[in-house]
Amino acid sequence: MSIRTFDRGPETPIKLMVVIGSVRPGRIGLSVALWVHEHITDRGGFEIDFVDLAELNLPMVDELRLPKTQQYGRRHTEAWSARVEQADAFLFVSPEINSSFSPALKNALDFLFHEWGRKPVGLVSYGGRGGGAFATAALRPVLSDLQLIAASSYIDIARASTQVEDGFFIPEEQQTARLDNLLDELNALAPALRSMRESALVAG
Ligand SMILES: Cc1cc2nc3c(=O)[nH]c(=O)nc-3n(C[C@H](O)[C@H](O)[C@H](O)COP(=O)(O)O)c2cc1C
Repeated sequence: MSIRTFDRGPETPIKLMVVIGSVRPGRIGLSVALWVHEHITDRGGFEIDFVDLAELNLPMVDELRLPKTQQYGRRHTEAWSARVEQADAFLFVSPEINSSFSPALKNALDFLFHEWGRKPVGLVSYGGRGGGAFATAALRPVLSDLQLIAASSYIDIARASTQVEDGFFIPEEQQTARLDNLLDELNALAPALRSMRESALVAG
């Protein structure tokens, strides 16, 4: 009997796409995302693709066909598809806006379907008084529709602006600990889900 195993090897970094949801001038999302980026870089084990949706500058979804067909007619969709396809895992950094999450992130998610599927995602949400909990809650059904697998660990940051000094986000100890829990989960989920996707391909 042959058993199909999947071994990335401990030295193979997981390709983690970090997405900044806010595209607003003066956003604190950049500071929060840079904290995340720096912590992941110090920790190692992940190869980061840092996606700033303000730079990516996707229009509102402008494809003729549904994303499930993957018949894209626009260059920006093809480029976004190729970039998301190569990722093993995602980390979304989103503000809470009117009890939901970033509309720019929703639009970027809506462009594609299969490219997200059966990949793990971690959520870092922040806001004013709401603290990001509603953003996290609003994201969950969207992730489910796209077959993204949310890590059970997540980070909500209330009054996030009070933790930004000179453009740098100063994390509390428990926030860094939660980020580590989240990264541990992504580290465990990414190879397992990759194996699952590859098995599905083999099975046709
Ligand atoms: C239109 C608008 C709606 C907002 N709604 C909420 C909200 O429902 N809950 C909350 O906690 N913060 C809310 N906020 C505060 C934002 O989350 C906060 O300003 C955050 O810093 C925005 O992210 P950014 O600075 O990265 O753009 C809102 C801000 C704006 C501009």
